[in-house]
Amino acid sequence: TRAFALIPAAGMGKRMGASMNKQYLQLGGIPIVARTLQVFQDSPLISGIILVIPEDEIPYCRREVVEKYRFSKVLDVVSGGSERQHSVLNGLQALQDHTAPDDIILIHDGVRPFIDELILQQSIDLATTGVGALVAVQTKDTIKVVHDGTVVSTPDRSTLWQAQTPQSFKFGQILAAHHQALQEGFLGTDDCSLLERFNGTVRIVNGSYRNIKITTPEDLVLAEAFLNQTAGGRP
Ligand code: CTP
Ligand code: MG
Repeated sequence: TRAFALIPAAGMGKRMGASMNKQYLQLGGIPIVARTLQVFQDSPLISGIILVIPEDEIPYCRREVVEKYRFSKVLDVVSGGSERQHSVLNGLQALQDHTAPDDIILIHDGVRPFIDELILQQSIDLATTGVGALVAVQTKDTIKVVHDGTVVSTPDRSTLWQAQTPQSFKFGQILAAHHQALQEGFLGTDDCSLLERFNGTVRIVNGSYRNIKITTPEDLVLAEAFLNQTAGGRP
């Protein structure tokens, strides 16, 4: 089977509070989204990439990211929607012309540049068996459920995992789940939650505590530290 990457990068980066969209902020002189794309461009496991970007940024992104860094595997740059789930669905629709139902789709946030190829390999292997493959790490902190400032409960930490990306599926399976979610007006913050809701099985691929989603300014400091830690500045 072949594997394709769908990279949602059509958010607004509100929590970063920067003057430009966070995915274009430079990490070691290279835009974050370009570092993320480089991992998929370099991996022999990946046949093609669909990038999802806010509509008014498409020309800028084609020029300053796709062409500048020669991402030859990018099949298309398509516009996103108001919620991440809408952006992913636009990407899936663009992939329909390029893929078969049994091809594997890895959905990976544009702002997680520290993904590595071993995790891609394990995700593809698991998704090939027909389940959703969720990259996740065990929660380090104790998590509380809180309503209006009052703690309601403390779930057993050993059962809690932080969802990362990639989240990988057979193309036909995730497209069907997205169509069903659209019909029912269900909005999830990640793709696996759609499969869970519609009775699909989702299993864990062990992620990495380095695979952070660059969300707030503190994450940039952490990201620079990770870069300096890696010989040669591997993305
Ligand atoms: N994303 C997207 N379309 C949206 C919202 C988010 O493609 N409508 C993408 C983001 O670009 C990002 C990933 O989904 O790569 C994870 O989202 P998040 O970290 O929340 O990014 P933003 O939505 O941009 O940030 P914020 O929520 O702080 O505004
Ligand atoms: Mg967001």
